[in-house]
Amino acid sequence: MTHPDTLREHELALQRAVTVWIATGLAFMLLPGTFLGVWNLIGISGQQSAAEIDPAWLQAHGHAQMFGWIGTFILGIGFYSLSKMAGAGRIAVRHAWLSWALWTAGVALRWATNLWHWEWRLMLPLSAVLELAGFIRFFLTVSGHKAEGPPSKMAMWMRLVIAGSIAFLLALIANLGVTIANSLSGASPAIPHERNQALLALILWGFPVLSIWGFSARWLPVFLGLKAPEDRQLKAALALNAAAIVAAAGGWWLAGTTLFLLGAGAAAAGLHVFSPPENPPKINGVHSTFPAFVRIAYGWVLVSAVIGVAAALWDHAGGLWGASRHALTVGFISTMVFAIGQRVLPAFCGMRVLFSPRLMFAALAPLSAGCALRVISEICAYEGYAPSLWPLLPLSAVIEMTAFTLFAANLALTLLQPPAHLKHAKHATA
Ligand code: HEM
Repeated sequence: MTHPDTLREHELALQRAVTVWIATGLAFMLLPGTFLGVWNLIGISGQQSAAEIDPAWLQAHGHAQMFGWIGTFILGIGFYSLSKMAGAGRIAVRHAWLSWALWTAGVALRWATNLWHWEWRLMLPLSAVLELAGFIRFFLTVSGHKAEGPPSKMAMWMRLVIAGSIAFLLALIANLGVTIANSLSGASPAIPHERNQALLALILWGFPVLSIWGFSARWLPVFLGLKAPEDRQLKAALALNAAAIVAAAGGWWLAGTTLFLLGAGAAAAGLHVFSPPENPPKINGVHSTFPAFVRIAYGWVLVSAVIGVAAALWDHAGGLWGASRHALTVGFISTMVFAIGQRVLPAFCGMRVLFSPRLMFAALAPLSAGCALRVISEICAYEGYAPSLWPLLPLSAVIEMTAFTLFAANLALTLLQPPAHLKHAKHATA
């Protein structure tokens, strides 16, 4: 039997590793992700066209956000969940660091290669191999610790999270395939448009969306006091989403986007997000508007899916596709990470409390406002419906950048505080 002190030490060591995962995600989010996104958008609105900007730079931004930020957070949380499994500590700590080193090197290399094109035919697939290796190290560690009970008894939230992990693995394999093909026959590190669109459908609607639905099924009944989720509707959401990704990969965009819409509707209904809650929300340590922002996020995923259908029918200049993607990435994914992340991550990183609930609101409010401004002006300006809205795009970018910076500051200040057990020890000795 392992001594309790040793177990505690393992848990603390794993929490330290998880803290580094989360800090790494924040770093990718800010500079390679958000600041480059703002730079790109200022360039696009200056030229009044996205065609003049190097697509490798646009893809560098998207990759840093999806893999560098969202992917890194998901992997960090995955390793954290191991700290709750007895006996997993010692192995997991070593694996968490190895996985982090491979993953971080891969994502950073991809970003730098897309920006500077240095030896890109070699570096592009190398970055994809490093990312895949980091993920496989994570996957093997997590799948080595099986859930209790037979798979038929597995809770729906866990099935969704596992489906999200499988989608993550598939996205990384597809990314490797696409980068190899590009380095053999491409003209630059930028993935050709059609292939990139299909890959993005898997990257955006696969692992982040499924993982968020899974974590929502697990936490929202408690945090928002919602009725227990409906397994049948969530199963339907999963099946519809998977079918949509397959349709998008095959280039059947109208079918794909319609299925994404049906899947998002089934998930929102199955989670009872818009139904009256059964119990009062649990908002200890976070801002009181937290439940409202979770609902706003679920509103955004539906908006994204509706614009997606419109894009499949009428897009001419990338404005509808871009707005649909932004409603998903910023409106849904980022709002959920800002809301749920600030609720759970302080505890995951050593039982800390959030530095400032007010700062949480100060980040969430401009995020929603900036996203609304961007989605409306991107459709109207890019598609030529109202060219007078071009100047609003950089404004939306600055508003969103403020939101991301405040979110990062709140989490960074939270992580810089001593963990609760050290705080208590300090008070006890004082
Ligand atoms: C300040 C916030 C942001 C700004 C200003 C911004 C800007 C942009 C711009 C200009 C594009 C090029 C396509 C277009 O014109 O629509 C783009 C694409 C993209 N963005 Fe963002 N973005 C932001 C936040 C995010 C976030 C938070 C995510 C993910 C969580 C994200 C993920 C993506 C992805 C995946 C693409 C597609 C890249 C590709 O073509 O491969 N963005 N963004």
